[in-house]
Amino acid sequence: MIKPLLTKKGQEVLDKFLNTRAPITIEERKGKIFRMLSLLMKEQGYKEAGREIVIEAMRMSLIKGYDLLFHMIEDPAKFNKLSIDPYQDMKAYYTQPIQVRRWEPVIIKPTKHSDEMKVLAICASPRKRGNTDVLVDEALSGVTDAGAKVEKIMLQKLVVNTCLACQKCQQPGFVGFCAQKDDVPGIIQKIMDSDTIIIGFPIYSGRECAQLATFFDRWYCLGGRKLEQIKRALVIGTWGYPYVDTYDFVISSIIDTLNIFRIITVEAISACGFDGMLHGLDENRKAIILRFPKELEKAYQAGRSLVTGQG
Ligand SMILES: Cc1cc2nc3c(=O)[nH]c(=O)nc-3n(C[C@H](O)[C@H](O)[C@H](O)COP(=O)(O)O)c2cc1C
Repeated sequence: MIKPLLTKKGQEVLDKFLNTRAPITIEERKGKIFRMLSLLMKEQGYKEAGREIVIEAMRMSLIKGYDLLFHMIEDPAKFNKLSIDPYQDMKAYYTQPIQVRRWEPVIIKPTKHSDEMKVLAICASPRKRGNTDVLVDEALSGVTDAGAKVEKIMLQKLVVNTCLACQKCQQPGFVGFCAQKDDVPGIIQKIMDSDTIIIGFPIYSGRECAQLATFFDRWYCLGGRKLEQIKRALVIGTWGYPYVDTYDFVISSIIDTLNIFRIITVEAISACGFDGMLHGLDENRKAIILRFPKELEKAYQAGRSLVTGQG
């Protein structure tokens, strides 16, 4: 491992990060950070790496989900205000940034007019009328206003068992979809029968919630088979951490999974700030996003564009 020359402050910030990590992961991470740092130093003409460039190298070598750690290191006062105070103080809870970001849409004209389309929405959040559910409903309003037919399912209400890796579905002559007898074959059939799908999910433990992960594991039964018709999708990801791009990489990975099955994501939504003292609800247990109509409107627009292709 080539160790670039670090200033005292550069070394301090590196140690601060590495000291929070599990010992068995440190050498591998250090290797990646040093390699990135060497490249950045060469590019920017530095002989010695200070705090800023070390942070840049760490950010570039680690997944975006480490935002929290970097925010804590970079600006502790701002970090406390945004990420700690909403857990301790009701005023801070109600003033934390709730943001929705609509990704730049992919303009592909649908093959049908919107009033001939069927849209299936799958909400993977267990909280009915929680923030994810409300965003999905708002997108569905955009869909229905454009004339398309909609159906919505809450994954939590259905029986979605885990994949048993029995491989029966892969055996020649296997009849049916899966050896498990639950609601998954019915949901897959609904996807097949729709032109467009909407998937909404919350981030749990830095990844998609288990409800969605479990459901996707069962798509293994499709094997290499792609869906017959190319479909369009809108993917909505929500989370607590108050930065609207921290978990975009998880949304991208869901989009990649859909892509394998020829479901092309043309619209995506990131939404953040759903945590703190009341965990994304208000004192009446209503989703906090309902207090932000301008942010919600972005989900409406994404839903409408999903079926009209008009961006
Ligand atoms: C078990 C669990 C794990 C969570 N993990 C994270 C996390 O890693 N990062 C984050 O920003 N928010 C996390 N959250 C917060 C949720 O992502 C957030 O509250 C979500 O947007 C709630 O959606 P809902 O209102 O539809 O339930 C977690 C929430 C729960 C219940």
